[in-house]
Amino acid sequence: MKIAIVGAGVIGSAWAIVFARAGHDVALFDRDAGARAALPARLAAQARDAAAPGSASQVDVLARIGIVEALSDALQGAAYVQECVTERLPLKQAIFAELDALAAAETVLASSTSSFGMSSIAGELAGRARMIVAHPATPPHLLPVIEIVPAPFTDPQVTQQVTALMRAIGQKPVMVNREVPGFVMNRFQGALLIEMFRAIGEGLVSPEDADTLIRDGFGLRWAFLGPLEGVDLNAPGGIADYLARYGFIIDDQARDAGATGPVVTPAIVAQLQEAMRRRRPLEALPERLEWRDRSMAALRRLRGDPP
Ligand SMILES: NC(=O)c1ccc[n+]([C@@H]2O[C@H](COP(=O)([O-])OP(=O)(O)OC[C@H]3O[C@@H](n4cnc5c(N)ncnc54)[C@H](O)[C@@H]3O)[C@@H](O)[C@H]2O)c1
Repeated sequence: MKIAIVGAGVIGSAWAIVFARAGHDVALFDRDAGARAALPARLAAQARDAAAPGSASQVDVLARIGIVEALSDALQGAAYVQECVTERLPLKQAIFAELDALAAAETVLASSTSSFGMSSIAGELAGRARMIVAHPATPPHLLPVIEIVPAPFTDPQVTQQVTALMRAIGQKPVMVNREVPGFVMNRFQGALLIEMFRAIGEGLVSPEDADTLIRDGFGLRWAFLGPLEGVDLNAPGGIADYLARYGFIIDDQARDAGATGPVVTPAIVAQLQEAMRRRRPLEALPERLEWRDRSMAALRRLRGDPP
C-alpha cells in the first residue's frame, strides 16, 4: 500500500520509518527544500534505531521511502495520508482543504496534530468523513502508542480502518472517544508537569531532583506497567485494596488542587477493580510481581545502573 506523508520534520520522518518498516511504500513531502535536504541523514539514523532483530534491514526500509518535491506526486496512488505539518491551526486547515481537493475520494486523511480536534481542522470540507486524528508520541518509530480521535463526522468505517492499519504496522492504537483539547496522553503528561513546575517553583525540590524522582522512581515501573496496574500490584487485594489503604492520600491531594468532592469514589474503585481483574485474577498477581521485578532489574542493567 502506498502511504503519503505530508510535512517531513521530526514526526513526519519517523512516521515514514514506521510505515516503511512494515513493508509499505512511502512518499514523503515537505514544502521546504531545506527540510527535504536534511531528510536522508535523519532517516538513516531513525532507520538504524528502529531496526529490530528479524525485521527488515535498514537498507530495505530506506529503499521504500521516496522524498518528493510536489504534494500531487506524494498523493498519486496513495491509500492513506499522514499529515505532519507544523502545529498551527490555519496551516492545518489549509493543508486539509488542499488534501481534500487533490487526494482520490477513497484516500483516508489522518492528522498527527497534538492539540486540534479534526472538527476545528476540517470545518465544512466536503470530504470530512474520511478525516481523523492519529496522534503519535515522539518518536513514533520507538514509541508505538497512537491516539485515534475521530470527529463526530468521521465515518466509523474510517475509524476502524485506521485502527486496523495502526495495529498492522505494529503501533498500539488507543481510542479517544471524544474530542477534548490536548486529547488524553498529553493531559496525563501535563498533570505531572504541572505538579513538577509547582513543586520546583515553590522550592520543594530542585529541577534535577524532580527528574530523579521519576527516572529512578516510578519511571522504572512505568516502563513496564501503567500507573493503574502499578498500584494494582502494590496491595494483596489489588487496586481496590490499595485504594482502601491509600485512597485518602489521593483524595487529600485532589482537595488541595481544588476538587469539591472525593475522586476515589465507590464507582471508580469498582470500575478499576473490575477492569484489573478482567485483565488478571488476584491469584496471578504474585507471578506478575516477580515479572515486574525481573524486568526492572534488566532495565537497570541496560541503563548501566550500579548494582
Ligand atoms: N514533536 C513532537 O513532540 C510531536 C509529537 C506528536 C505529534 N506531533 C505533531 O506532529 C506534527 C509535526 O510536528 P513536528 O514536531 O514534526 O514539526 P516540525 O516543525 O519538525 O516539522 C513540520 C514540517 O512541516 C513542514 N510544513 C509546514 N507546512 C507545510 C505544508 N503546507 N506542506 C508541506 N510541509 C509543510 C515544515 O517545513 C516542517 O518541515 C504537528 O502537528 C505536531 O503537533 C509532534
